[in-house]
Amino acid sequence: EQTLDANANVRVEITGKVALVTLNRDLALNALSSALMQELIAKMQQLEARRDIGCFVITGNRRVFCAGADIKEMHSKSCQQMISEDYFSPWEQFSAIKTPKIAAVCGYALGGGCELAMMCDLIYAGESAVFAQPEINLGVIPGIGGTQRLTRSIGKAKAMDLILTGRHMAAREAEQAGLVARVFADESLLEEALFAAQSISEKGRLSVRFAKEAIVQSMELPLSQGLLFERRVFHSLFAGEEQLEGMAAFIEKRRPDFA
Ligand code: CAA
Repeated sequence: EQTLDANANVRVEITGKVALVTLNRDLALNALSSALMQELIAKMQQLEARRDIGCFVITGNRRVFCAGADIKEMHSKSCQQMISEDYFSPWEQFSAIKTPKIAAVCGYALGGGCELAMMCDLIYAGESAVFAQPEINLGVIPGIGGTQRLTRSIGKAKAMDLILTGRHMAAREAEQAGLVARVFADESLLEEALFAAQSISEKGRLSVRFAKEAIVQSMELPLSQGLLFERRVFHSLFAGEEQLEGMAAFIEKRRPDFA
């Protein structure tokens, strides 16, 4: 199953319970125009509403994941316009997608491209991946979460280094720093990301969602509240079928079926 519109900024291919979402604005290196943003968010919201999609994989192409916000679109905007449009605010809807999202990054993930990857739940990188927040070179700062998510992800020292210098960080460094979960050869990145996505989509829908929510809360809450949130969510899963099936399958020495 796939979208057929060759002019679309975003292509979707569905295999089983996994939706592969490919940024398709090659001529502008997948820069995040408002049109691309709206299409991406709308398609993902539609897919989430179907309830049969268990995981998204978001990718670009071999050379570029995404070169960031569209500089040509924003360069002549006034401060008043930026504020009244609340430019970038629709990205909150992308972050709010509950279904897990894996970013599969080859090549450049710059500025908003790095931020798009960080708005996903998990980043896998090809060896060619390059992450940067180069906004400082444009006389601005990251605007879709870079100063916040990068700092939480890799700590103040490295976030300062990257955001103040605008330098590139290669895939291996990004993995060591904790931004990237795993690095693969470029040619196997997509296959590995789809394999992980399929594995996630075969787990219990509710337990995946709750696990993700608990991890997200760890970025927001003090430890004692985070631990309480986790424990209460753990308790609540005993009201559902997934815990019954998962534990019964273990005891009966069979694979659980969460379908
Ligand atoms: N916005 C708009 N157009 C872009 C773009 C962007 N972010 N990045 C690339 N393009 C366009 C180029 O203008 C060029 O268009 P033309 O053919 O019409 O001239 C086309 O894509 C190809 O780009 P290059 O010729 O520059 O390709 P290259 O291989 O020489 O360089 C690159 C590749 C290093 C990625 C370089 O394009 C680049 O540095 N891009 C900008 C990266 C950047 O600064 N990103 C941050 C944007 S601001 C931001 O994201 C704010 C935020 O926090 C949300």
